[in-house]
Amino acid sequence: MSSLGQPVIHLKDVQFGWQPGTVVLDIPELLIHQGEKVFIRGPSGSGKTTLLGLLGGVLTPVAGVVSVLRNDIGRFSPARRDHFRANHIGFIFQMFNLIPYLSVVDNVTLPLGFASKRRENVQSMGVDARQEAIRLLNHLELTDPQLLQRPVTELSIGQQQRVAAARALIGRPDLVIADEPTSALDSDTREAFIRLLFAECEAAGSTLVFVSHDSALEALFDRSVALNETNRASQYRPLGQPEVV
Ligand SMILES: Nc1ncnc2c1ncn2[C@@H]1O[C@H](COP(=O)(O)OP(=O)(O)O)[C@@H](O)[C@H]1O
Ligand SMILES: [Mg+2]
Repeated sequence: MSSLGQPVIHLKDVQFGWQPGTVVLDIPELLIHQGEKVFIRGPSGSGKTTLLGLLGGVLTPVAGVVSVLRNDIGRFSPARRDHFRANHIGFIFQMFNLIPYLSVVDNVTLPLGFASKRRENVQSMGVDARQEAIRLLNHLELTDPQLLQRPVTELSIGQQQRVAAARALIGRPDLVIADEPTSALDSDTREAFIRLLFAECEAAGSTLVFVSHDSALEALFDRSVALNETNRASQYRPLGQPEVV
């Protein structure tokens, strides 16, 4: 798979610490190509969420280059990073981060309000935002029309997770980033969810980066990366303890 596409993510000599003088991530190189579905595995506290923050431009590196779609996003202004993220990246968070007072459909269309490119992608499909939200939700097996108008708080965890996936996928972002979105589900539901996510990413041409501590999911993916092998900082500190250098 990796030989097929252009690089979507290229980290080079990236270092990040939460406090000055500490290092949580020290990654000589990480390369992910267009269309890949990559599993990044690491125990709790190993820096998975921190890494996704760098990929999404929520965090900026202390040193090195975080290149996403050939943009050195660490050098963007905060406003430009926010704009880039909204247009190009769909996030599925561990706790889903759905907006409780909005309906299912309104949660899914929400990112389009900040992302002109993703809005245009929906328009070019010849549908409006609402129709596309419903199509995605139906594909993710949320089909009851009444359910789609309810506040998200009335849904089960498994249903909320699929709403979070539809929200990340709407408008065909180049990159979909998922932070342990299956941790609250049983194993059958986990695998079914991942297969639905794969199908939607393939249909949209989106690259998928999925992090988890659960290596049972690893075999489903094109490729897996062990964060503790890629991250040199894991070798010079006890796990989860940022080292003072
Ligand atoms: N907001 C934060 N402020 C300070 N330290 C943090 C913060 N978030 C995470 N860390 C620290 O960074 C390390 C990696 O955390 P994290 O990226 O959340 O790991 P994972 O997602 O693999 O569980 C941990 O030592 C954690 O305590
Ligand atoms: Mg985490």
